[in-house]
Parts: sequence; C-alpha cells; structure tokens
Amino acid sequence: MCGIVGYVGGKNAQDFLISGLKRLEYRGYDSAGIVTLDENGEATLLRAKGKISNLEEKLAKNKREDKIGIGHTRWATHGEPSEINAHPHQAGDIYLVHNGIIENYKELREHLTEHEFKSQTDTEVLAALVNSFYGNGKYPLVNAVVQALKLVKGTYGIAVLSTKNPDEIVVARSGSPLVIGVGTGETLIASDASALVGHTKQAIYLNDGEVARITKDSVEIKTLNAEPVSAKVEEIETNLAAIQKGGYEHFLLKEIMEQPKSLAETLRGRVNLEQGVVHLGGPGLSEQELRKIKHLIIVGCGTAYHAGLLASYYIEQFTPEITVETVIASEYRYRNAYIPENSVALIVSQSGETADTLACLREIKKQGTKTIGIVNAIGSTIAREVDGGTYVHVGPEISVASTKAFTSQVMAMVMFGLTIAQAKGAKPGSLKLYVEEIAKMPEMIEKTLKDVEGEVKKAAEKYKKYEHAIYLGRDTAYPTAMEGALKLKEISYVDANAYAFGELKHGPLALIDDRFFEVALVPEGPLYDKAISNVQEVLARGGHMLVITDTDFNLPVDDVIKISGELKIFSPILMNLVSQLFAYYMTVAKGYNVDQPRNLAKSVTVE
Ligand code: M6R
Repeated sequence: MCGIVGYVGGKNAQDFLISGLKRLEYRGYDSAGIVTLDENGEATLLRAKGKISNLEEKLAKNKREDKIGIGHTRWATHGEPSEINAHPHQAGDIYLVHNGIIENYKELREHLTEHEFKSQTDTEVLAALVNSFYGNGKYPLVNAVVQALKLVKGTYGIAVLSTKNPDEIVVARSGSPLVIGVGTGETLIASDASALVGHTKQAIYLNDGEVARITKDSVEIKTLNAEPVSAKVEEIETNLAAIQKGGYEHFLLKEIMEQPKSLAETLRGRVNLEQGVVHLGGPGLSEQELRKIKHLIIVGCGTAYHAGLLASYYIEQFTPEITVETVIASEYRYRNAYIPENSVALIVSQSGETADTLACLREIKKQGTKTIGIVNAIGSTIAREVDGGTYVHVGPEISVASTKAFTSQVMAMVMFGLTIAQAKGAKPGSLKLYVEEIAKMPEMIEKTLKDVEGEVKKAAEKYKKYEHAIYLGRDTAYPTAMEGALKLKEISYVDANAYAFGELKHGPLALIDDRFFEVALVPEGPLYDKAISNVQEVLARGGHMLVITDTDFNLPVDDVIKISGELKIFSPILMNLVSQLFAYYMTVAKGYNVDQPRNLAKSVTVE
C-alpha cells in the first residue's frame, strides 16, 4: 500500500526513482509521481494516474540529469485516484511524499490559509504545514519538518525536499516504514527494502518518532524531541533473484512453486528428526516460561489469520492443557478482551507492517502479555516490536495473494506449539509423528505440486464459468477451506466462501444450485465418514462438486483431485496447494491481473 523512494548521490535520480517504484508496484497503487531537483533547486515534477508506464511516458519527454529526488506510488485514501491527488505534493519550496493517514488534516487545513490547495489529500496539508514552518528557507528543513509533525495526529512515513536545499532529503516515520540505504557517495530511501536491492546492502531502518536528514554521504537521525539517535546499520539479505520472476509468467506461480524451498528455509536447523523434537530459538522463552503457558492468542489478518486458525487446531491436538484462540486483528484491537495470566500472543504477519495487526500487538503489550512474532519481512515494524520472534524466512512474497507465507506460518506455529509441548513434558514418542511429517513436508509439497498441476489447470478451465463457489471442510480442512476460498475470491473475483461441513444444514445448504460450484476438502481421518455424508447432502441437492482428497473417493461428484495419502496429519496443507493452483489457473483462464488484483494492496498499512 503506497510506496516511497528517494535518491541523493552522483547518479541519475529519475532512473533510480522509476526503477524503485517499479519494485514497489506489487504493493498496490493507483497513481505515481516523482520530483527531482537540479543543482539550482529547479524542480521537475511528473505525476500520472494509473500504471508507472503512464509516468514513464511523461518522463520520456522530461529527461533530466538531476541527482536528487523523491517518488511515490499512491493508493487513494483521501480523494480519488487522479494526477492532481498523486504525490509528490508541493507547497511553496516544499515537495513531499507520504504514506499513512493524517487524521487531523481538516483541522490543520483550516489554519493554512496562505496556501492555495489543489488536491483533496491529507498529504498536501502536511506539505503546506512544513512550508509554513520553513520561512522561505530561513530555518533548517529538518526543523520545519519536526515542527509540523508535532502537530500531526495519525500515521506517516514521509520524504521531503526543498528547492532551497537541493542536496538534502528529510525523512520521518510514525507507523509507516522507511528504510535508508547507505551507498558509496549516495544515499537511497524506500518504504520497502526491496527497492534498494542491487544498489546497496547496508540499510538503516528508521523507528517511529525518528526524523533523519540525509545527504549523499551522511545520515543524521534524531527523535522528534531532538535527541540524537545513533544509526544501526543492518544487512539487506534479499538478493535480486528473489524479487524477479525467474522464468515464471507470474510471481504467484513462482511463489507457489517455491514452497518446497521456502518451507525448507523455515525448518532449517529447527527440526531434529533423530530425537523427534523441534528447536525454536527465536521466541526467547525459557523452559520454565514455556511450561507456564496456559493460553495462546494468535492474531492476524486474511491469510495470516487462516494460518493461525489452522495452527490452533494442530496445537490443540498435542497440547491439550492449553487453550488456543485465534482472532482477527481488526476486530480484536477494539474488543474489550480479557487476557488471562500465563498467556502468550503470537502475532502473525508476512509483511510485518499490517496496521491492524500492529495495533493489536501494541494493545496486547500494554496488558503485559508476552508477544511472539511469526513474521516474514526482516526488520519490519512487527518484527522489531515483539518481545521475541520467529522469522519464517520464505523470502520476498511479491504477489498480493499470500501463498508460501501461509504454509510456513502454519508450520512455524506448529513448531512453537511443539516447543511448548516438549517443555511441558509430552510423553516420549507422542510428538514423533508430527516431527517426522514436518521434516517430510518440503518433499511432499514438491511431489504434490508436480502431481496435480496439469489436472488443476484443466479443472480451472472447466469451472471458470461459475461466479459463485463454496469451499467446505471439517476439522483442519475447515481453515484450509477458508484459505482456499480467500485465494479464489481475491484474484479471480469469484464470490467464494467457506463453511464448516457441519454448518451446511444451518443455512448455506439453501445456496446449492446451478450458479454455484463446491470445492470439498476431504482428508482421510476420524471425520472422513461425516464429511462423506455432507458431500452426499450437497449432491442430493444438485451440487457441482470438485473434491480434493488424499484417499479413494467413490461418490459421483463432478471431479476428484487426489493427492498422496502419505502424510496423515498435515495432508490439508498439501490440499491447500491444490487450492492455490486452482485460484491461479482460474485467474489466468479469466484473464485477470494475477499478481495485482483490483482494489487490493500487498501490505495493508492503513486501518
Ligand atoms: O502481511 P500480512 O500477513 O499481515 O497480511 C495480512 C493480509 O493482508 C494478507 O494475508 C491478505 O489477506 C492476502 N492478500 C491474502 O492472500
């Protein structure tokens, strides 16, 4: 959601800004813009509605050799997507780009009578506010920014340029990420480290409440209260290959196919097959603290929530003495929920920047509850604010639809649950099957993807005529069905919803008709027969059903996709691969934008 880039150095700023914005395209946007300054401070402002290619058309007629500039991809919050509302916004000498939301912008705008507003955005208000403290260059830019930010309520990551000082950029953050890339004779900024890959490996992650003055060879950071901050330079681990399609037509397919490797990264060094145990160092809890845990609260949004829900079913299986509750972050943050003593909260987020999840983390911490991150993006805000954490290490997930992160989030949480069970003295051997299956997962994922891809592609062609889908499952196949339905709806725009099989008779059964098709997840196991009865109920009412199973299936459904029955416990996770591929091929068959579905952003950094 929204992207920021910036450059000051010896190279062409326009080139970096455009290539950086393209790297951030995956986050979702509806307009884009850049501004650069020449050595006299003369500005070239280019903005366009729609894709970055529209901006590039303008750029072709306005090429400059400027060595400093800032750029932005906008995801509309205040004011429609349009060129006039696109960033950067100008006020007097100031150009400013902004991620986040200025909540008191209306109130602030009323006092800024000297500025003639052109857009409907909260960002132009911030630009005008900075300009009002700048005194035509009488005061340092950084001071003007600090003065302005002290009046602001809301969230922001900003980058600011002044035509009076064409050799510095001022950046600041509160609730919206900003990374400073330290190069040789150049300094770069971005809201996401992926824009810096290939330019520098050295990064400084700005913290909330910090402001930095940046030149081509210096970074000075202080807090809004003027306390100096000594910058911690960290290594960017991502390489170029990780953010390229690598021969695949879409990032989504690449990320689905990457899962044997990405899960192997999650498991690396954490599974001891010989002893039948897992070792999860990240959470940083002592054996005694682990033994004391009585409640787990798992918090996430979207796919991360589904991963949490699925993990909760597993954790309950082998740690019956603790209760596990999985909650949707946007709801939980406003509930008056009582967190009992001896609770631990798992904060699940691929991006580590989701606004609602972050807000929950902060609420939960206020109550004194220990928080553990299950995060992918290294150095992200959630990763930095939790008390301890486990990175899932799946590498950058570029496609808006989350796939490889889901698989690894579930397994990381299952491993955390096993760590608790081990500390609580689970009977020797009782966890063995879990550990064995975890170790086998990467290989089984590889096999499943190979086995089913062709069949799934055909099925997608067949079912693409439907506009409505119902996903069904019981037990661990139920959260898996929820995830399958989310995948289908978000990229192929099919109205897909998931129900627990047992809920069918309580309402959803009334939906069954020729407008709908059903996807039933039916793993072998204690509830197999019950699921079979439910399938019959749907068939008796004229359903059109695709069954995903790991065992023989003899009912007269429309289609059956059978995966290997080798995994007894984690089979639903393999079934989810079928759902992922199905959503992918359905979207391709319908001709929609696979990696950037309409109206969505990869990282939801506003509420
Ligand atoms: O980055 P996060 O894991 O916190 O993101 C949470 C959701 O926004 C995300 O999973 C979303 O639901 C995906 N687009 C689903 O594919």
